[in-house]
Amino acid sequence: MRKVSVKVPSTSANLGPGFDVFGLALDLFYDEIEVTKKNSGVSIQMEGELAKEVPISPEKNTAGVVALNFLKKFNLDGGVAIKIVKGIRLSVGLGSSGASAAGVAVAMNHLYGTNLSKVELVELASQGEAASAGSPHPDNVAPAIFGGFTIVRSGSPPLVINLEPPKRLGLAISIPNLPTEKEKTKKARSILPKKVPMKDAIQNVSNSCGIVAGFLLSDIELIGQCMIDRLAEPYRAKKIVGYDEVKRSALKAGASGVAISGAGPSMIAVVDRGKVNVMDVAEAMSQAFRRSGVDAEAYAVKPAKGAEIIASS
Ligand code: HSE
Repeated sequence: MRKVSVKVPSTSANLGPGFDVFGLALDLFYDEIEVTKKNSGVSIQMEGELAKEVPISPEKNTAGVVALNFLKKFNLDGGVAIKIVKGIRLSVGLGSSGASAAGVAVAMNHLYGTNLSKVELVELASQGEAASAGSPHPDNVAPAIFGGFTIVRSGSPPLVINLEPPKRLGLAISIPNLPTEKEKTKKARSILPKKVPMKDAIQNVSNSCGIVAGFLLSDIELIGQCMIDRLAEPYRAKKIVGYDEVKRSALKAGASGVAISGAGPSMIAVVDRGKVNVMDVAEAMSQAFRRSGVDAEAYAVKPAKGAEIIASS
């Protein structure tokens, strides 16, 4: 085999209280990643409107870091040419860097027949995330690889639990049109406190348990009710213009719960598709952003499958 192409979904991390733990694959935007064997070195070519901002030096690119680590891990001669067709918006909290890292891990595993398990691929791909976010958090790469809802505990190996979302789960997403911020996730992590009050930690444990129970019981209302974070969101909310109003509008339009998507600035609301029109919620959120002076795009989304191999030759 010489060449493999993989399609990887966008993802939303945290879902409120599950900071660096929860992730959900979204049937919204996709990256397509093609990896071709070559004689030596790792090169990266970016394609698509969104590609301009991404560094293409392999040591600085999430996908490049994964490829370099993979070649080293298996002591492989030769190199790879990586082509990334960037479909996932950058720096909006939808797992763009994680998707490229996950895609390359999946592609190289197939290309070299190394039979790494999905958990091993999550570990490999999360090293790529460190290149863009400063720390190897696996909560975007896990759903990008497994699909559906994932719970991760970092470590070597990481622990990954994969649950199928409720059938009627809809996600209303609003993406504010703000200028792309360089190293956004790194900055959004740097403003978080190093120590947190015990009562906040307890609230987060309770809410996280509620969300997991909600997925297991297919109880969308319970998932939504527990999308309350006391560890990261209060600090990040101050930087998102219109945050309070977007939240209020989502709940008023019938969402079960709402939170910042990943490190933001997009917002994600959980909606029971059997009861409420998901697009109505997404529009209400985007209108709230507009009232706060920022234009925003609205999307009605379903959960997605994980990374898929779409071609090989
Ligand atoms: N859990 C991470 C964060 C996701 O919130 O910083 C960002 O990609």
